[in-house]
Parts: sequence; structure tokens; C-alpha cells
Amino acid sequence: MEPEGFRSALLNHFDRHRRPLPWRTDRTPYRVLVSEFMLQQTRVETVVPYYERWLRRFPGWASLAAATLDDVLLEWKGLGYYSRARNLHRTARAVRERHGGELPADPAALRSLPGIGEYTAGAVASIAFGHPVPAVDGNVRRVLARLLDLAAPTPTQLRRTATRLLDPERPGDHNEAMMELGATICTPRSPRCDECPVAAWCAAHAAGTVSLRPTPPRRRPVPQADYATAVVLDAAGRTLLVKRPDGGLLAGMWEFPSAELRDARATPTALHHLATLGVHGHPTTTLPPVRHAFTHLRATYHPIVILSGDTADPPHDSGTALNAHARTTWVHPTDLDDHALPVAQQRIGRLLRRWIAGTRPRASG
Ligand code: ADE
Repeated sequence: MEPEGFRSALLNHFDRHRRPLPWRTDRTPYRVLVSEFMLQQTRVETVVPYYERWLRRFPGWASLAAATLDDVLLEWKGLGYYSRARNLHRTARAVRERHGGELPADPAALRSLPGIGEYTAGAVASIAFGHPVPAVDGNVRRVLARLLDLAAPTPTQLRRTATRLLDPERPGDHNEAMMELGATICTPRSPRCDECPVAAWCAAHAAGTVSLRPTPPRRRPVPQADYATAVVLDAAGRTLLVKRPDGGLLAGMWEFPSAELRDARATPTALHHLATLGVHGHPTTTLPPVRHAFTHLRATYHPIVILSGDTADPPHDSGTALNAHARTTWVHPTDLDDHALPVAQQRIGRLLRRWIAGTRPRASG
């Protein structure tokens, strides 16, 4: 494959059809890095409004490095994969403390920063700094597998081909054009080969094997878990939130206290589990179950509204698992959006507000 014709066909098409995305104007390293973190595992359409809000809230390294992790998670709330937010925050602090307030341009130095792997280092080095290095994400992998007509290209084959094809004059545009091709034309299903600017260079197109390339990864069955979720209301009408531990899934996010149910969904079992968390009170009603698919877990939350006594203090038993978090807060249901709650927990909050609105006519006052 001669690269010059390929490059100019790809870039001519990109110059005419590129989507006007907000990170494609005013390309500072900060803006490019924020966009690349947000775009990991997340579609462009989802990212755009978050990106614009983020830039208003944290316009540069200094404001992000000065923010608390709570503020950062609150701004990221709803985008998912929250370790990206934590890593971006840690990277901002490393830029402030170790790099004099400027993102390093060198791919190896970029890779030493939290959350920056080979793909992100390549994307930022090429897009923000014009370094001629490839950036192979999932979309680009699919494009390359089809160009090469390979069912399962190895990382070395991908890197070698991406490097050989890369336009040394416009490496950032070239990498973005490859991503864009994968996102808009060379899609996993029903690719639009008749609109593809580089179909003439595509071995799978010539062989009629596009739909077979690359072979989809074999997916392992995702484990399921059920949780009893305590929606505790105190006499002042506030609800109890606990903060998750600093490591692992949804680290540092707020949630309604939950206990995993091993096999039964019955309320008594749930209450027993919650008692082990230190949650006591009068179960009043159950709310509809809320499901959420994480990458490695399908979770179903079974919310139970529990009216606690007249105290607004968190459960006291110092030996309970709940107090082991030592991070609890009572929040009015209308103020839940002020906390970094994962999507499923926000849905439980909406169910709670709807339930409260429905019961108010019967409540005194
Ligand atoms: N996906 C990852 N980075 C991207 C970018 N810069 N433009 C469009 N899609 C992307």
C-alpha cells in the first residue's frame, strides 16, 4: 500500500466532512487532553455537553488542580468510568507540581501521567503538539483490520501499519481522520463502503470480507448482582447517603446504603442485610428495581424506603460496616443533584421524589 495516496484521500475527505466538535477549535493541550479522557469508552454525542460544561467550570490546569475531588466527580457525574475523572484530576496536580504548569509534549513523559496509556499519549502528542506518532483506539483498530483484511491483528501489526500510513505533515489531523472514519463510515455493522474515501486501499473491501473483520471479541458472561438499597428518611425528610471507598468501582462517589443480596430479593432478607450495615427503621414501601450495566457487572438495586426514628444522626453503632466508611451525610431529596451520585443512584433519587410527591396529600402538613 503506497501511503501518500492513502493520506491525501483520507485528509481531503476529513477536511470536507469533519464534524465541528468543540475540542477542534482553540487546541490547547489542556482542551485536547480533557476531550481525550472524556472520549475514552464514550461516544462523541454524549461527551459534547459534558465537555462544554467542564471547560466553563475548569477552564485550565490551575482551576482543575485547585478543585477538590468531590467537585471533580460532581462535574463528571453521569459520564461513567469515574476513574477517568480521578486520573484527570491527578494529572492536573502532577502538571502543577512536576511540570511547571505545562503538559509535557513528549509521548514517553505523557505516559508517565495518571490515566495516560499508549493511545491517549499518541492522540495528545499528535493532536496538541504535532508529533508524528500514531493513536490506535477501538475505531482505528477496526479500520486497520479491514485495510489489512485481518481477523485479529496483533498490537504490533496495528502499530506498524498505523505508523507507516501516518501523515508526517499533519499527524494530529490524520489520527483524528482515522478515528472519524471508524466512527462514521467504517462502523462495526453496516459500514458505508460506498462513501469511504480509502476503499481503494482496503483489502477486506476487495475480498468481500469487510463484515468479518475484525472478528468480534468473545464476550464472557457478565456476572449479575442484586442489592437491597436503603432509602432512609429522617424526621426532617432528609435521606442518608454514604460515600464509597476511595478505591474500586465508583470510588469516592455517593450512594444510598446498599447490601448485596446473595440469592433472595424478599424484603426481610434485604432488611437483614441492611441491618448488618447499621441501617434500622420502619420499612414503608419498596420502589421499583433499578438496573444498571457496568462493564463487568449487571447490578439491580431494590430500593426500600425506611422511615428512621426522629434522629437525623447517621447510625451510631461504631462497629458497623456503614460506620467503617465514616463518610455519611443527610441530604434533602431535592438536593441530591449537589452530590456526585452514579446514574443508577440518581434514578433511585428520582423514584424517591416521585414517591414523596405521591404520598404528600396523606401526610400531615
Ligand atoms: N475519539 C477519540 N478522540 C477523538 C477525537 N479527537 N475526535 C473524534 N473522536 C475521537
